[in-house]
Amino acid sequence: MKQKPVLLVTGAPSRPGRRVVELPLERKTTMQNILLIESSPRGAQAYSHQAALSVVNELQARLPGAKVVVRDLGENPPPHVGPAFVSALQAQPEALEPEQVKALAYSDALINEVLEADVVVLAVPVHNFTIPSTLKAWIDHVVRAGRTISYTSNGPKGLVTGKRAVLALASGGVFSNGPAKPFDFHEPYLRAILGFIGITDVDVVRVEGMAMSGIGPEKALALATTQSKQIAAHLA
Ligand SMILES: Cc1cc2nc3c(=O)[nH]c(=O)nc-3n(C[C@H](O)[C@H](O)[C@H](O)COP(=O)(O)O)c2cc1C
Repeated sequence: MKQKPVLLVTGAPSRPGRRVVELPLERKTTMQNILLIESSPRGAQAYSHQAALSVVNELQARLPGAKVVVRDLGENPPPHVGPAFVSALQAQPEALEPEQVKALAYSDALINEVLEADVVVLAVPVHNFTIPSTLKAWIDHVVRAGRTISYTSNGPKGLVTGKRAVLALASGGVFSNGPAKPFDFHEPYLRAILGFIGITDVDVVRVEGMAMSGIGPEKALALATTQSKQIAAHLA
């Protein structure tokens, strides 16, 4: 599989799946950190990746000092949450077993990337009417009481506030309108779960109809590029 062309890459070997792209700080802005979550297994060829990259590139053109962290779930899938993680959530910190400490540390690393970001760009292919299981596993590690959500007497309260998100959604069919719209579970779900942790300012780029005659990659990507420019202008 071809490597994704994401600018300069410096490694953080202890955190597989994470790439950090540092660019010189030429202009001070309030938005300095972009987190790009990739979830297609198709690498650089993925349409969700291409649409998301176009948003990131547009943002970087407006924010030359921005830092981009890439978390590639397609290349390095997160584990499903297992017994160590779930039991650790209930345990006292001083009583944690090494496996539980490890499970929480992985979750903490993913959460910290989100908390450090000003904007989270999610590149998402539609798989069987919903998000890839790798992205669902990421969500299961990130939506965590006490870290990204708080259960108060008034109900749940998202702790990840003051951030924006962009969804780059790629699909073989068309879900934004027409007969398949009732089967658009991915966008409402992502909006719901991001809103649950406090991210309510969400824009969407669609690369849809990739498998449909009359649309296809060329038209859909051209439309996505136009949408990316509009979104970047709205964000920065
Ligand atoms: C396992 C799998 C399931 C898919 N399920 C759907 C689906 O339910 N609806 C759809 O429109 N396209 C579906 N597709 C097609 C992809 O959404 C489409 O190829 C899209 O471009 C993938 O995004 P990517 O290029 O970013 O990987 C599926 C593809 C795969 C590999």
